[in-house]
Amino acid sequence: MRILFVCLGNICRSPMAEGILKKKLAERNVDAVVESAGFESFHINEPPDKRAVKIAKKNGIDITESRSRLFTSDDFDKFDRIFIMESSNNRDIKYFTRNEDDLKKVKYLMSVVHGKNEAVPDPYFGDEKGFEKTFQTLDKACTTIADKLKNKEEI
Ligand code: 4NP
Repeated sequence: MRILFVCLGNICRSPMAEGILKKKLAERNVDAVVESAGFESFHINEPPDKRAVKIAKKNGIDITESRSRLFTSDDFDKFDRIFIMESSNNRDIKYFTRNEDDLKKVKYLMSVVHGKNEAVPDPYFGDEKGFEKTFQTLDKACTTIADKLKNKEEI
């Protein structure tokens, strides 16, 4: 299974989700490819936001190696499931979809938890508390994904 997390800047939500899921899959001995990308070029090639690095580190996850990169249509060939964070991502990704099969790979991340297309709020313009909350939200979703993959269930 190859999983891609996508957000706007690829410096807060998606690199945190990538780090969290990698850790949970390793703990469960599940083999998978996990990466992240974004739609906005403001922070290309930059490491994650300091606040994201800090909250990840506090939870035993090192995301300092991550570098922001843009989503491309090739990602539909490289990944089986593409998790988006919010409705703006859903609009942006439509510019890259080439066919129905591409579209089928895209899911709101929080839909794995409760079946609804709920957003993972953007913490960038908020404070550290917001990052803590976002981390917990991502953690919950990644636990569900990791458990499902372990049990060979659909995600
Ligand atoms: P992310 O957060 O999409 O979770 O990485 C953001 C990062 C940067 C910006 C917006 C959101 N920005 O406007 O630069």
